[in-house]
Amino acid sequence: MAATLPIWPPPPGQDSSAFDWIFEDPRSKTLLTEVEQVAPSHANILITGETGTGKELIARHLHDRSARRNGPFVVVSCGAFSEALVDAELFGHENGAFAGAFGTQIGWFEAAHGGTIFLDEINDLPLTVQNKLLRVLQEHEIVRLGGRKPIPIDVRIVAAATADLDEMVQQKRFRKDLYYRLNVVRLHVLTLRERPGDIVPLARYFMELYSRKLGYARLRLTPQAEQLLMQAPWPGNVRELENTIHRSLLLCDGDVLDASSLRLLHPGSSTVAAPSPPAQQVPAPALSVQPPIPLLPTVHSESAAHAALRHAIRQLCEANAADLYQSVEDTLLREVFRYCHYSQSETARLLGVSRNIVRARLIRLGEVNGTRKHPTDADDTDLPYPPTPSDKETP
Ligand SMILES: Nc1ncnc2c1ncn2[C@@H]1O[C@H](COP(=O)(O)OP(=O)(O)O)[C@@H](O)[C@H]1O
Ligand SMILES: [Mg+2]
Repeated sequence: MAATLPIWPPPPGQDSSAFDWIFEDPRSKTLLTEVEQVAPSHANILITGETGTGKELIARHLHDRSARRNGPFVVVSCGAFSEALVDAELFGHENGAFAGAFGTQIGWFEAAHGGTIFLDEINDLPLTVQNKLLRVLQEHEIVRLGGRKPIPIDVRIVAAATADLDEMVQQKRFRKDLYYRLNVVRLHVLTLRERPGDIVPLARYFMELYSRKLGYARLRLTPQAEQLLMQAPWPGNVRELENTIHRSLLLCDGDVLDASSLRLLHPGSSTVAAPSPPAQQVPAPALSVQPPIPLLPTVHSESAAHAALRHAIRQLCEANAADLYQSVEDTLLREVFRYCHYSQSETARLLGVSRNIVRARLIRLGEVNGTRKHPTDADDTDLPYPPTPSDKETP
């Protein structure tokens, strides 16, 4: 079932990079201290925070710093099961417990015996299963579906919630007694915006992580790119930052990640230069970030895009750029190729020229050849790669 992840720690040879983390902002350091303090205890822990803030990472760290570290760490995403299945998934079943229950199957609680179970999205657990979970917490035993015999269980529960459990308790959607049992220790993970001191160190950390994975050389982040990262709103928190860096690395070229190669899903709104309102009307900034650097305005319509393009060409003229025609064509090819995730056929479609023309230009630019194969080239399967001599451009 896709909802569950394998046991932690991973077997030798598997990626264990989730042990690494960045908590640089002072508020994150405070959280880290709390995590280290409560990790060795046996107390159940409730971790709250928006999605992508690092709740699972913290749960793993809690396990790793506890006496249970040599036992299993089992992740169960409570929201991923239908109500009918969640029971059997968590507690297991005996042969014939329900139609299709062939043989005995242990559940995730038994699998986590001696270790930690991480119940992610606990707010999604149906009320009937909440009753059963309460029983596990009180009695330290489970009964498999279709079984009678209680099985003793020694498991530490770390639960995570994205919804407001207090409110759910008031609305009678979450059992109050279960809430009290889980909420012995509460750790709250702030959104990325609330801990701006983590943003750039996290970006550098992910750059290193993904450069290693992609076999790239070490990359540098420019001050302008840092500024953009600091201004972005990050509604998807650390996960969004991670994906942004990964995507930007796939599309960047050279050893520098600059403002133009950052592929932000949610750029900061303060990047468009606008006339300043009178001083007394300026709202206090929510966070103390550096003043925005001047950037090209975000382009909202095709005519605005063309205006920006005309403006860029005029600037190149004023700068007396050498080989203007060729350099504009080359930039066009390169940018569209990256935009199309290195798919030659997509590039040709978007440019409205033949695939052969695109390929010939890309070979001339050194973007495709027999020695450099981009990680995403495998998707482009409509012609053999690298190009063979018979694949010459047609007139
Ligand atoms: N402080 C951090 N340092 C390094 N990576 C982090 C940190 N916080 C989160 N991540 C990474 O961000 C991604 C999302 O984190 P995760 O723990 O799954 O968030 P949540 O469980 O809150 O949705 C994961 O890939 C995780 O490794
Ligand atoms: Mg998660």
